[in-house]
Amino acid sequence: MLKTQVIRKLIREAAKSRKRAYAPYSKFLVGAAALGGSGKIYGGCNVENASYGLTICAERTAIFNAVAAGEKKIRGLAVLFHHTRRGAPCGACRQVIREFGKNVPVVLANLRGGYDLREIEDILPGSFGPEDLR
Ligand code: THU
Repeated sequence: MLKTQVIRKLIREAAKSRKRAYAPYSKFLVGAAALGGSGKIYGGCNVENASYGLTICAERTAIFNAVAAGEKKIRGLAVLFHHTRRGAPCGACRQVIREFGKNVPVVLANLRGGYDLREIEDILPGSFGPEDLR
């Protein structure tokens, strides 16, 4: 599990990234931050498109950012979008998080700093993963 200090850092980075969200259609700003195996933190925001279905969520942006920077492991992820309501990754993002293990910690945060800490397995039970391909 993650140390409180790391959780705080993830939440701070997610909040910073949320401000960069490109969401002219939904106006729904989402921020995320992924903790790479190296200990570095990578931010991500949602990026929408005039062809709506091409939109990418903040969580996947953060994870892909980390992987593109050379990370092989994702040790945790935080997501936030609302002042009081806690973040919740969509189904597609849950599957992308799960790629990096059943026990990846997911911080469901709000903009006031409140959060719930879960493992991806808890919010995506009975999932399909890399092991199933072997
Ligand atoms: N969105 C995310 O960034 N993450 C989620 O887990 C849920 C949805 C974005 C996609 C779209 O830009 C906006 O929120 C409204 O669906």
